Amino acid sequence: MDSALAKLDDVVKEITEEIRQRTDRGEVASYIPELARVDPKHFGIAVVDHEGHVAAGGDCDMAFSIQSISKVFTLTLALGKVGERLWRHVGREPSGSPFNSIVQLERESGVPRNPFINAGAIAVTDVILSGHRPREALGEILRFMQFLSDDSSITIDEAVAASEERTGFRNRALANYMKSFGVIENPVDYTLGVYFHHCALAMSCRQLAHAGQFLAHLGRNPTTGHSVVQPERARRINAIMLTCGHYDGSGEFAYRVGLPGKSGVGGGILAIAPGKASIAVWSPGLDAWGNSHLGRIALEMLTQRMGWSIFGA
Ligand code: DON
Repeated sequence: MDSALAKLDDVVKEITEEIRQRTDRGEVASYIPELARVDPKHFGIAVVDHEGHVAAGGDCDMAFSIQSISKVFTLTLALGKVGERLWRHVGREPSGSPFNSIVQLERESGVPRNPFINAGAIAVTDVILSGHRPREALGEILRFMQFLSDDSSITIDEAVAASEERTGFRNRALANYMKSFGVIENPVDYTLGVYFHHCALAMSCRQLAHAGQFLAHLGRNPTTGHSVVQPERARRINAIMLTCGHYDGSGEFAYRVGLPGKSGVGGGILAIAPGKASIAVWSPGLDAWGNSHLGRIALEMLTQRMGWSIFGA
């Protein structure tokens, strides 16, 4: 094993041990009842380096609900489908508001600020759905995740999707409000059905870190050799992850971690160290912004110890 990889392995081991001992775990999301059942003590981490080597620790092979992390991949798919025309449906500026906020939509004529807040991700899902039946659109998203991770065992957790279908009143409000401005093309229930289901994708840190590799390596997955997007598109998706990936906690994440990242209320975070690694962490307890509390701290430890912040050591 070369020395850089040995160092990474040691750092991942140290972080796994240090996080295991922490008692400040944050609060598990409860507005989606099925997520409230998850044990806050879980912690997983997986780092895939530029040669496809994996350093992993803790519950790195346990599947969890990726929730909003799926928005990175639906953005990638929608850009592949309609290219720059996507930006007629959604902006690309940080919102400075919570992920499920409704107020900005009225001021901005129903066009969401960015593809990672809920309203923006619902608009992106609607673009993927257009011209298809919901089942086909969802199949396309699932197959894309399996292709990126090179793992056909990835599935959608139907219990989580059903739980959000029953309780997603606020998303329903956002979608109906956008529909009133003509921003949503398909029947609201169809678009939301696809959205709730892709949020309910169940993946482990190892699978997620593999899926993110193309973003760390100019659009190409070094493990499979597949070109997923052009280098320019990978760079731009990373830029949106950096500025919008943690909602109104994006500044804090850039300040402390210094990497493009995307969080989900299941407690996962996908982070990209360009040219170096794709990283997934999971700790179900959330901070006040709805981002994984210990997940962020683990990433801060990793970037500091490896010197991986995009802003320099
Ligand atoms: O729409 C929702 O509220 C959830 N399916 C996803 C939200 C989410 O993951 C926000 N991330 N931190």
